[in-house]
Formats: sequence, C-alpha cells, structure tokens
Amino acid sequence: MHPERIAADDQFEHGSGRAAELIAQHSSWRERLTILRRVPPTALPRLLGASFASLPRRVEPVQCEIATLDRYQEGLTELARYLSCPAPALPDACAHVERLLSSRGDCSGAIGASDVLFLHAFISVLAPDRVVEVGTLSGFSAAVLADAVAQHQLSQSSSVVVETIDLSQRCLTDQTKPVGFAIPQVVPGLSHRTRVHTGKDARHVEQIARAGELKAVFIDADHQHPRPTLDLIRVARFVEPRGWIIVHDINLGSAGERMAAAGTPFEHGAPFGAQWLFEAWPFEKISGGNIGALRLPPKLRHLVSFALAMLRIPAELEPLPARRTVEAFITALVEMTT
Ligand SMILES: C[S@@+](CC[C@H](N)C(=O)[O-])C[C@H]1O[C@@H](n2cnc3c(N)ncnc32)[C@H](O)[C@@H]1O
Repeated sequence: MHPERIAADDQFEHGSGRAAELIAQHSSWRERLTILRRVPPTALPRLLGASFASLPRRVEPVQCEIATLDRYQEGLTELARYLSCPAPALPDACAHVERLLSSRGDCSGAIGASDVLFLHAFISVLAPDRVVEVGTLSGFSAAVLADAVAQHQLSQSSSVVVETIDLSQRCLTDQTKPVGFAIPQVVPGLSHRTRVHTGKDARHVEQIARAGELKAVFIDADHQHPRPTLDLIRVARFVEPRGWIIVHDINLGSAGERMAAAGTPFEHGAPFGAQWLFEAWPFEKISGGNIGALRLPPKLRHLVSFALAMLRIPAELEPLPARRTVEAFITALVEMTT
C-alpha cells in the first residue's frame, strides 16, 4: 500500500463521523507539506513531527442532553458525576433557568432551550469565578453564563462574572441595537458584572486573562470551518490544563442538510465548522445535543497534530478569507506552542 494511504487509513480508523473521513481524505504527504510551507522556519521543527503523527485514538462523547426543564436537576447531577464534582446545592437554579428561558424569545439568533439547560448546568457544576465567551450577539448566552457563575458567589460580590467578545459593534439580528443589548434586560442584577468587548475576536482573550487561568470558555462565533477550531486554538492557552471549551452548533451542518433535503434550507446557511471540530476532537467530550463540551488535554502540544489535521479539511470560505484564515491559524498554533 502507498505510504500516503497508510497514514490516511490509520487516521480514519482513529477518528469518528464525517470529520474523520474528511481528515483521511486530506492526509496526503502533499497536503501536509502544503500547510508546512506556510509555517515560519523558526517554528517548523515544532510542527513538522506533529504534522506526520497519527491522531490520538477515537473517543466517543458522553451523552448528556437536557431537553426539558424538568430534566435540569437530573442532567446537572449526571454532569457532576461525570466531572467528579459534588452536585451543587442550588435550590433556586430551576427557577433561574425558567426565568432565563422566558426571556429567550426577545433575543433572535440566541442558543436554543436545551442548549440553555446544558450550558447553565455545566457552568453550575464547574463553578468557575469567571467565564469568557466568544460571540455575543444580543448577549442572551452571556446572561445565561452570568447567572450560572453568580449563583455560587455572595450576592454583594461585584467581581466580573462574564467577559464576552464580539467582532461587531451592532447586533447582527437587529442592527438598531448594540451587541450585548439584552444583558441588562435578562439579568438586570448582573449587567454591571458582565463586560462586553466589541470590535474584537478571540485574540482579545490575551488582554483579559492570564495563561492557564480560565476553567471554561464558550465559543459561538463564526461557524465556518476552520474558524471554530481557530477560535479554540486562540483561547486554549488561557484555559487551565484539562479545562473546558464549550462549543455551540455542533449539529448545525447536518441539520442544515436535512432542512435543505426537505426543501427549506436555513436562510443564513449551515456551516459544519463546529460540528467537525466536535466530531473529530480526540480527547474527552460531552454532547448536550447541539452544544458540546471539549476537554483540553493536559499539555497543549498534544493538540497540535489534531489542529493541523483539521486545517487540512478544506475551508468553508471564499479563497481570499480562506488563505487569511490559514495564516491566522498557523500564527495561533505557533503562539500556542511557544
Ligand atoms: C451565533 S451569534 C452568537 C449568539 C450568542 N452566543 C447567543 O446565543 O446569544 C454569533 C456572533 O459571533 C459574532 N462573530 C462572528 N465572527 C466572530 C469572530 N471571529 N470573533 C468574535 N465574534 C464573531 C457575530 O457578530 C455574532 O454576533
């Protein structure tokens, strides 16, 4: 068998789903070398071996979808067991989530109801001091995060609970309003503890967090491959070893295909970027349906061969932004491994 096929088949066996198939299809020596040609010479020794290494063995996600409010407590207990954390005693948590869900209708483009339940339960169990979010829009998911973080803190506390970052200044689904406009409406008591950073992308995390500081980051920004993976690579060094990256829309691509087949395609498209990232992730992961949590490996260098494999899957972008995204990706990878 040709050596290129050996490498590709080996990776295919170790992956899962369509993303693994795509990685296998794009694992020729030529494709690996094409990417390595874009790496600065000083970083080449670090990335060369990783580019030809096999990916870690296949991992299936733990399933923990929380579809309805009456499953919230049960889901929270399951997540606590999986994360080896004590289940938090939060007698008001269900009432909080119910209030959050009732404000969702005013926030077009926000995460869905079962995503709210998973996100709130996951953060309630993890009990971080502060969470960073990439992709604010109206600020609804930022409000969910703020509520979950603040539950563990004294009511008179004034520390920041959420830092949320968005490339835009105006809310894309309602240009008459600023990004994050819904935060004071959804969590009035916490808006002074939520900071909105507009006109920025995931690189801004460097300005607001120390290396290895965060327990969790939520990514819900540009879903076109490889941008969700780029966001992950950009924020990973600010997350603690074995910390968590939560990713939204991990079923968007497949849902879009089903809708298109039924003759009602999604108006704004349905990219696969977050879905492929979740499917191919070779470390621990938890699926909450259309939202998932990815656990970082103990050392960030363990991420490099995976990231390079993801970069070989063709981008869901026009040629010029695709080229720029590859450059940004390699820069972020070099920074992550420095
Ligand atoms: C799906 S919406 C976020 C929805 C929000 N998380 C919620 O559930 O309420 C995606 C947002 O990401 C922003 N965005 C797109 N690309 C970005 C990037 N590269 N960095 C940061 N934000 C980005 C868009 O402006 C948009 O507001």
